[in-house]
Amino acid sequence: MSDTIDHLLQEKRVFEPSPEFKAQAHVKDDTPYREAEKDRLAYWEDWAKQLDWFEPWTKTLEWEPPYSKWFIGGKLNACYNCVDRHVKNGLGDKVALIWEGEPGDRRDLTYSEVLEEVSKFANALKKLGVQKGDRVALYMPMIPELALAVLACARIGAPHSVVFGGFSATSLSDRIVDQEAKMLITADAGWRRGKVLPLKATCDEALKNSPSIENVVVVNRMKNGEAPIDMKEGRDHWYHDLMADASSDCPAEPMDSEDLLYILYTSGTTGKPKGIMHTTGGYMTGVYATTKWVFDLKPEDVFWCTADIGWVTGHSYIVYGPMANAATQVMYEGAPDSPSRDRFWKICADHGVTVFYTAPTAIRAFMKWGHDLPAQHDLSKLRLLGSVGEPINPEAWIWYHKNIGGEKCPIVDTWWQTETGAIMITPLPGAVKTKPGSATKAFPGIEAKLLTDEGKEVEKGGGYLSISSPWPSMLRGIYGDPQRFKDTYWSKWDGIYFPGDGCTRDEDGYFWILGRVDDVMNVAGHRIGTMEVESALVDHQSVAESAVVGIPHDVKGTAIAAFVILKDSAEPSDDLEKELKQHVVEQIGAIARPEKIMFTADLPKTRSGKIMRRLLRDIAEGKTLGDTTTLADPTVVESLKNRYEDKEG
Ligand code: PRX
Repeated sequence: MSDTIDHLLQEKRVFEPSPEFKAQAHVKDDTPYREAEKDRLAYWEDWAKQLDWFEPWTKTLEWEPPYSKWFIGGKLNACYNCVDRHVKNGLGDKVALIWEGEPGDRRDLTYSEVLEEVSKFANALKKLGVQKGDRVALYMPMIPELALAVLACARIGAPHSVVFGGFSATSLSDRIVDQEAKMLITADAGWRRGKVLPLKATCDEALKNSPSIENVVVVNRMKNGEAPIDMKEGRDHWYHDLMADASSDCPAEPMDSEDLLYILYTSGTTGKPKGIMHTTGGYMTGVYATTKWVFDLKPEDVFWCTADIGWVTGHSYIVYGPMANAATQVMYEGAPDSPSRDRFWKICADHGVTVFYTAPTAIRAFMKWGHDLPAQHDLSKLRLLGSVGEPINPEAWIWYHKNIGGEKCPIVDTWWQTETGAIMITPLPGAVKTKPGSATKAFPGIEAKLLTDEGKEVEKGGGYLSISSPWPSMLRGIYGDPQRFKDTYWSKWDGIYFPGDGCTRDEDGYFWILGRVDDVMNVAGHRIGTMEVESALVDHQSVAESAVVGIPHDVKGTAIAAFVILKDSAEPSDDLEKELKQHVVEQIGAIARPEKIMFTADLPKTRSGKIMRRLLRDIAEGKTLGDTTTLADPTVVESLKNRYEDKEG
């Protein structure tokens, strides 16, 4: 972390938007910042009015910290706003999705076709007994049916909960059980790096422990029998069978502005993920506004957000934000290096992508693969680039600017979270000069500050990031756990949201996000709690205790290092190390696979029993001990601990 801070603080380069970009941008100067500051509620109302409402709201905001309600009394439907209204406004023939499967198969869907498919699938869901308010879990590859199923749930008012297709059966059933989901939607399998991901088989495993699920819908992704599956009579239904006789007449359900739109699980500091709740009116307002201004979206743009819909970025900037803006967008199923490492650039060139949004971990991988790969493709249509998920190091920013953006595209480094629903800190590309590594300023209408532990504002220098007034797309709570909601986000300061990130501010008031200050790691842009990995390890029969820390990694940003104390019956070995890594993958998913496992006889703890994570990080990075195998000697840990305690006084 201190290396990152040093790098960021030495960064002095400034990039102004080009006159050409500025001239055509939705926002060209700081007027909206000033207007939003003058009357924040009127500003958000203006955005909300750009959506279609079945009934207008009667009150804009009710704020009883930590609970907010937005656009109270208003009735709308998220799916209607993403689909029907565009068809009604004459955009039915506009392409909504340009989809590419990893093997190269392709499907384009216009807004009219989306409306037809979504309406049919919504009717199919109803026929299977899904009613307004019932939770529906989705565990799918990045195929059009995932976006369609999400919209179909929204259409009938059934909150969806998408579980990333890389999670394990245990992670899936934990999420299903927590929200008592009634239905599960999946596919036989998906493609990833040329391999078949057996999603339905994983669902079958999860379903052994998911008693609330009554029906399972299965999309047939594998057309050539690459993934034979079992279908359980009465419970499992093929998507295409349901669609064959479904009516396409399914009016969108008028939902209350504060009705639950979705639950999305994210990692926290305990072993149990949190079900983040987003409601309808405020969330749609936030994602609509940020998509339009941050990505400077115009009707002729071809937008591509490379995230998976299993994460919040895909919810807000593949499904709801772009579609509410009637965007044409690319959706891609697979890996960036399949079949070769220029796949993304080929997709950009083939479809004329104009706005491209990805994560720093991907950019760092592209850097490693070499600038000659993007150079082989025509990227001249690109006009704006985005970054999300973790701090972007200035080197990666500059590489992205030069090699992908041809030194002409502004870069929007967007800070936000599952909990915030929409982008919170970001440049507006036609109005704000950028600095590599800085997310710059709060979006108009968002009040971000740096605070000390005591809640004192830091104008320049380091502190904790905070959001001091409510915003429309903020989370409405953690499903089934109001106390955790209060403790996690609202107990540090009074009525002020604590996101869990450290940050510094420079002389221009720019924000430089430094990363998490809690026990949450950001591995390749994905949030994983140290406790989740620790729980997965102690679940193994040979493990007595474990401690997990994040260590710097040149592509992933952070990698997972685990210290493990074995039970007396077990002996450290390379095979056991492999087995433990695999056990974590089976418990959580491949994203949580530890990079390093170190067997130890003891864990360094403070006198009050807290694990000394900083010492563990130093050991894992080899700063303290060259040869970590000697940790098996208990006196080593003890003497290290003493040295640290002496140093820290
Ligand atoms: O630490 C911040 C980091 O990702 C966390 C949120 O993770 P998640 O809810 O999974 O959402 C990721 C996609 C929005 C934050 O607390 N983070 C996200 N974007 C940035 C970032 N850190 C620095 N710069 C960013 N642009």
